[in-house]
Amino acid sequence: MRIAVIGTGYVGLVTGVALSEIGHTVTCIDVDPVKVSQLNQGIPTIYEPGLKDLIQKNLTAGRLSFTSYHHEGLEQAEVVYIAVGTPQRTDGAADLKYVEQAALDIAGNISDNVIVVIKSTVPVGTNFYIRDFINQHTKDGIQIKIASNPEFLREGSAVKDTFHGDRIVIGAEDSATAGVIEAINQPFNIPVLKTDILSAEMIKYSSNAFLATKISFINEIANICEKMGANVEEVAKGMGFDHRIGPDFLKAGIGYGGSCFPKDTNALVQLAGNHHHDFNLLKSVIQVNNNQQSLLIEKIIQRFDDIKGKKVAVLGLAFKPNTDDIRESPALVMIPRLVELGAKVIAYDPIAIENTKRQLNCPVVYTTEIEEALSGADCTVIITDWPEVKNLDLSVFNRLMTAPIVFDGRNCYSLDSVRQSPIEYYSIGRPSSIPELIG
Ligand code: UGA
Repeated sequence: MRIAVIGTGYVGLVTGVALSEIGHTVTCIDVDPVKVSQLNQGIPTIYEPGLKDLIQKNLTAGRLSFTSYHHEGLEQAEVVYIAVGTPQRTDGAADLKYVEQAALDIAGNISDNVIVVIKSTVPVGTNFYIRDFINQHTKDGIQIKIASNPEFLREGSAVKDTFHGDRIVIGAEDSATAGVIEAINQPFNIPVLKTDILSAEMIKYSSNAFLATKISFINEIANICEKMGANVEEVAKGMGFDHRIGPDFLKAGIGYGGSCFPKDTNALVQLAGNHHHDFNLLKSVIQVNNNQQSLLIEKIIQRFDDIKGKKVAVLGLAFKPNTDDIRESPALVMIPRLVELGAKVIAYDPIAIENTKRQLNCPVVYTTEIEEALSGADCTVIITDWPEVKNLDLSVFNRLMTAPIVFDGRNCYSLDSVRQSPIEYYSIGRPSSIPELIG
């Protein structure tokens, strides 16, 4: 099948590359010529394990190409995927300007009836709106069909998730359209749910909102555990054995970030509101998450009274490991607050430093060496559970820091190992470990 993909962000790039890997001829279109030139040389524009090899392999095989000229990809396409961003507007709703632009580009460049597939996360009802929008702008006689095919990949494991996803959701108006999209995806060998368009759009928002709810739920349980002396990890383990609950997404921490959960939960609250439904549960989920991001700061203030002039080592800037994405990362809330309190911040991250520098406008020293960050630090704050951080020999804190005081926002270390070391350790939803109290 000849496929065009508009947008080479996380979703578009991984989708285009994966579709070429299973045998389709794919042209990825992006308005940024610098990006396109880089991709045509086989250099990925995002950090994603496994992606580089797949890009290079399929470029060489002639099944994959990148262009910034819409007509090059669209004139011959049988199916066109829209995978552009839907950023958050100031009122919380999704901004559709890039999707609308893609629709205009499609309308102006297709030469035959095509199926347009919307991969971008769009408010319920958008597929119909875009279908009509394109059909109003096409050359005479050309009529497109639309299909909703939401994406469930995670950053950092996007390639793996695409080839080993739990389900493929296809929302279409008629069975012929759904059948074409199902056939395109057949080589992935992943269970397919064919449904109506509105339900497919809603599945995407509901899935992200439910996962965000699970995280805020366990974070609230963590906060209560701390007050009662229980251990949230044991609680989550005990809950997760129940197959109705499941063990995943019950990891307590300093809250969810990234480009999806914060944006999509806000958009769903907004969407519900537009239909006169006050989504109180989801509003609380968002509120819990916002509070969670300042928890460690409160603990630091409690411990030190005043951190003016103290050297604080921050380990991790990315919103989660295996990505250089810092969008909605707790680091963006916590570092400015630490600086405001007068701390001298030195921040470690293996790959997210450049993105952070572009975003953060406060005096921070950056390093890709953990040991450099820890040297002479008065306390350490863990924001991202990078393997490099999780696998640290705990003796390093005692060896390098002025005093080994660690605030762990991702529960990286077992309490047993911490208790066998001389570090003073505060984590999320677990008893603190203070050496002189242990004896
Ligand atoms: C999320 C969904 O997991 C994907 O299914 C979806 O396709 C994607 O959004 C999207 O809509 O595009 P992603 O944002 O890449 O994927 O990252 P996740 O791995 O889901 O993590 C999101 C946040 O939740 C991270 O900040 C992570 O640290 C946090 N998290 C996750 C927890 O705090 N606890 C957990 O147990 C799990």
